[in-house]
Amino acid sequence: MVNRGGKTAGNIAIIGFMATGKTSLARELASYLGLRSLDIDNLIEERENREISQIFKQDGEGYFRRLEKEIVKELSLLEGVVISCGGGVCLDPENIKNLRKKNKIVLLEASVEDILARTKRDKGRPLLNRLDKKEAVTRLMADRKDQYRDAADIIIDTSGKRIREVRDEIIKELGAGED
Ligand code: S3P
Repeated sequence: MVNRGGKTAGNIAIIGFMATGKTSLARELASYLGLRSLDIDNLIEERENREISQIFKQDGEGYFRRLEKEIVKELSLLEGVVISCGGGVCLDPENIKNLRKKNKIVLLEASVEDILARTKRDKGRPLLNRLDKKEAVTRLMADRKDQYRDAADIIIDTSGKRIREVRDEIIKELGAGED
């Protein structure tokens, strides 16, 4: 599908729960495969010129989801990219349909403990700004698990793995990177 050096076009979309390492992995994969990495949350923030937490606070989640959907639609037309999706992207069937047009969809999974450790001091994720963060992560993750899995072409367990290991696993699974 994708060859190192970008010889053959083909895209990868990374999905999964908040703080599973999607953005870093998209960058790592893109640089290894000679593709361009694009981050949906970053693009939303750039276009709106404000942070996601402000968008949620000032205009609500529905407004954020509409922006997200527009950007997914636009990015789904591009070639040679690795797209890092926000954790809610694949909860909308239309987003999945769009991503499927040109992308292999890779799901990153992590434990509740990993997510909590990675978001300990994080204030940028409005859905996790709860008094009982553990309860919020556990509940949201359970609610979303099946939808994530149904959307995925491949599922990668990231627990205890370094980013390069995850990268290599994905490349192996996708049959990418072979000269
Ligand atoms: C969300 C995940 C966030 C961001 C927004 C909503 C979600 O992205 O899009 O806060 O619904 O899971 P990350 O997955 O990059 O944290």
